[in-house]
Formats: sequence, C-alpha cells, structure tokens
Amino acid sequence: MSHQAAIRRKTIKDIMKAKGTHKLVCLTAYTAPIAQMLDDHCDLLLVGDSVGMVLHGLPDTTAVTLDMMIMHGKAVMRGSQKALVVVDMPFGSYEESPQAGYRNALRVMQETGCQAIKLEYNSAAPETIRFLVDRGIPVVAHIGLRPQYLHVEGGYKVAGKNEESRKEQLECAKQVVEAGAFAVVVEGTKDAVAREISDTIAVPTIGIGASVDCDGQILVTDDMLGMFEKTPKFVRRYADLKTHIEDGVKKFADDVRREQFPAEDETY
Ligand code: KIV
Repeated sequence: MSHQAAIRRKTIKDIMKAKGTHKLVCLTAYTAPIAQMLDDHCDLLLVGDSVGMVLHGLPDTTAVTLDMMIMHGKAVMRGSQKALVVVDMPFGSYEESPQAGYRNALRVMQETGCQAIKLEYNSAAPETIRFLVDRGIPVVAHIGLRPQYLHVEGGYKVAGKNEESRKEQLECAKQVVEAGAFAVVVEGTKDAVAREISDTIAVPTIGIGASVDCDGQILVTDDMLGMFEKTPKFVRRYADLKTHIEDGVKKFADDVRREQFPAEDETY
C-alpha cells in the first residue's frame, strides 16, 4: 500500500464553488504530454472539438467525429491527474434527440473516464441537458458564438451586439442553467452582455472572447502559445512556439546536410 497522499482530481463541485471566490483557469488539451504540462496550472482542461482545426488541419469543427474526441479524451485523461477534464460533444452527436445525445455522451464518459461533457446551445439543448444530467452526465453548456453553427450563422458572429441578441443570450444562459448545466462557456460575446450573464446566473461562466468579469477564462492552448500566425483578436500570446519550433528544425536540417549530426557520442 502506498503512503503517498492520493492526488485528487477536481470535481464539478470544486468548479461550481469557485464562483465569486476565485477565477477559474481553463485551457484546451488534446494530447497526454500537453495535458501533463497544463495540469498543475489549470482547474479545467477542455478536450475541445477545436482539435479538428488545431491538430487535424480541418477548416472548421463540423467534421470532427465522436471517435476523434474519444481518442483525444483518453490521451488527456492519461496525461492529467488534477484538473477536471471536459470533453466536447462533436457536431451531430447530440442534436438528433436527448436519447442519441445520452448514448454518445455515455460513450465519451465511459471510454475516456472524463468528468463532464460540453455541448453547444441550440433550441433543443435544454431538454438534452436535462436528460443527460438526470442520468448522471455533468454538462457544460456553450453559448454566444457557437463554432458548430458556423454555416447557419453565415460565419463566426459576435453575440450580444444589439438588444435582441442580448436578450437572446441571457435567455440561453437561463435555460441551460435551469436544465442543469454546472458551468457555461460564453464565447465571442460583447463584454457587457457576458458580464450581465455572469452576474445573473448561479453557475460559473467561462469566457473566451467575452469579459474579464466572467468567472473563469479559457483559450485554445496552441493559440496562446503562438503556434499560429493568425488568431482571433481575443487571443493573448504568451509564447512564440512556432518560431522556436521552426528555428530548431532549421538547425537540425542544417546539421544533417553538413554531416554534423549525429556526432560520435550520439552513435553506438
Ligand atoms: O473547442 C474548443 O476549443 C472550445 C473553446 C471554448 C475553447 O470549445
């Protein structure tokens, strides 16, 4: 038997209790080594369907599959021990009916071992959220700019820009909380509207392109570490990994071409 204190993973209760106490630090993770590096610093790791664009080179998130989410979810669970892990339900996996959503969410939870799933708001979402929560599946709802609705919206549109949209977003937030969501991601929403949502609902809001007054913040890790030249306005760059990687690769290529690699002490 080990005498080491067991490392405890954060629970949805820990996340809910953070509201009004401390800000939630959240980032996306898709692989075990990145999850390992983020784990000490984050309350929540999201296996976002942004994986389709970030790692698989897809133009948007609509072609991401349940199998992709499960594969990346498993890797993030293997790499982390402390953060709460939430896996995104991909486009088409929860909209058909609450029952279909339940079967797919159950697969995600059972096969990855994650603590919760996230789904994007649509008019049928409150019923599905209620169905899932009643059957033991914790849900994070995603409102505001919803990347999976890109084609319906005709692009990525900032939410809450006028009075009608403000009311709509407040209503979405109210509905998903009443249905049982334990946290709400508020993406691409006018600052004042995101603040009003955060002040109004009882569960934590996690902002992305929203407001400093959200209860937590999330960014796509690869965006904030500088893996891409072009990122949305709301991304702050905390590192320049693309340049570091390209510099390293250039040096390696140069060494190989000049027969400077491997050296004697790097061979058997
Ligand atoms: O897929 C994703 O990465 C998201 C964001 C909230 C970061 O949903």
